[in-house]
Amino acid sequence: MRKNYIIVSAMSIAGALIMMSSSSGRSDDRTGAPSSSGNCGSCHSGGTQGTSINVAITEKGTFNVATSYKAGKTYTIAIAVQGTSTAKGFQSTVLDATNKKTGTTANPTSGSRLISANSRDIVVQSSPSLSGIWSYEWTAPANPTGSVTIYTAAVAANGTGSDNGDQAATTSNILTLDATSGTSNNSLASLSAFPNPCNDVLQLSKEVDQIVVTGITGAAYTVDFSGTKINTRTLPQGFYYLKWTNGNESGIIKFQKI
Ligand code: HEC
Repeated sequence: MRKNYIIVSAMSIAGALIMMSSSSGRSDDRTGAPSSSGNCGSCHSGGTQGTSINVAITEKGTFNVATSYKAGKTYTIAIAVQGTSTAKGFQSTVLDATNKKTGTTANPTSGSRLISANSRDIVVQSSPSLSGIWSYEWTAPANPTGSVTIYTAAVAANGTGSDNGDQAATTSNILTLDATSGTSNNSLASLSAFPNPCNDVLQLSKEVDQIVVTGITGAAYTVDFSGTKINTRTLPQGFYYLKWTNGNESGIIKFQKI
């Protein structure tokens, strides 16, 4: 009886330690943004995982890549941490030019959660991830003041439950303020690609003359293409841009290979 009691309490202590641990997402600001407490590399080091971070920003509900934002509009911020690692994690936050929280951050995808630290909204992993892919939504303020910067820090860890033998990285992405209110690029909306995420094939909703597939870092990939069907079998898992041209129409679609 007594023995059982001791085992139960030892287990709950272990549970509490796991809750507080770094692997389930840090609770301090380690985004690497100005006046943060540093980044993941303040502790995680010594590894050669080849860690890199790709951040893709699209208008919510579309595949239109955003390099600027409009007041009150919602954007999806997709994060892909790459590296030879089974245990990846991240932190990401959106700040204005004075390095303060701006707009509303919401809907972190499965495996991540939203915390408040250093007066900022920060999205963090909730457990180490194999794929290193997450996203969240950011809604621009109704009265924006200028460019915003998305600061992201990440680690591709070796899964040994320590901060040794891991490699960290940081990146930042700027969205400038688009003060116009009218809608543009309506011809882009007429072309869609599905299924997205895709596996072996990405299908276009109409025939186009030409396509170019690039990774988020800009590297071009050669794929077989038949007018409406793109063979995505040979692409490594991750996010890509599909630039298409048809006559004098062109556009960019973001897609994910899983
Ligand atoms: C102050 C030091 C410190 C900082 C900063 C830190 N970590 Fe950690 N992290 C640790 C320690 C210690 C462990 C191992 C024990 C644990 O899980 O808490 C760990 C474990 C992890 C693990 C599991 C590693 C494995 O190999 O199993 C992940 C993933 C992780 N941290 C992600 C992050 C991310 C992402 C950041 C930056 C946003 C970060 N950590 C910043 C100290 C830190």
